[in-house]
Amino acid sequence: MTVLLIAGSPSTPSRSTALLESVGERLARRHGPALRIDRLVIRDLPAQALLQAEWSHPAIERAIARVAEARVVVVATPVYKAAYSGVLKVFLDLLGQNALKGKTVLPLATGGSPHHMLALDYALRPVLQSLSARHILPGVYATDAQITLTPEGAYQVHADLGERLNEAVDVLATEGLKLPATTGFEPVHFSRVRCSV
Ligand SMILES: Cc1cc2nc3c(=O)[nH]c(=O)nc-3n(C[C@H](O)[C@H](O)[C@H](O)COP(=O)(O)O)c2cc1C
Repeated sequence: MTVLLIAGSPSTPSRSTALLESVGERLARRHGPALRIDRLVIRDLPAQALLQAEWSHPAIERAIARVAEARVVVVATPVYKAAYSGVLKVFLDLLGQNALKGKTVLPLATGGSPHHMLALDYALRPVLQSLSARHILPGVYATDAQITLTPEGAYQVHADLGERLNEAVDVLATEGLKLPATTGFEPVHFSRVRCSV
């Protein structure tokens, strides 16, 4: 089974990527070689192909194929202007409407302050839902103060945040990695959508 870690920050080093890697390390420790952990760093994709939506660019095709191969997707973003990063958005815009069909998704975000912690729920979650994700787990939000630089120049996740990541990985293990491989709900055409009010 493959878990794809998607890093959505345009920066390096990156706190949100450090958060993502922390989840990856925990998954690797818990599941060992039974779990294949793949990584997609969006900032490493060709910028012009991303911005001009060149679906047929080989690097973009490969990135989309890696999403298709994964059973579980962990996606990390910095909060930018009270939402997720533009870099992440341009990549998600390249995915087909059913790109996350049947998949479990764990969203992660970092922000300068706690004020925008709900960005995961009001901004990113609807986009993941629109891509037909089967199961979107409760996200993990961290402030910059909880992920600090070591003297060696690496980002380190603080202990209390580490506890929350452990819980998220537990939930992923019980609710995500053990889900039977189904394709989820069929999409409903817009013309058939009815409101109850
Ligand atoms: C352009 C820009 C916009 C930002 N907007 C917000 C914001 O609206 N709310 C917030 O809490 N932090 C904001 N921040 C701070 C980043 O979310 C925060 O530093 C984050 O941890 C950076 O993650 P990264 O190191 O993975 O890029 C912003 C930073 C930048 C560069």
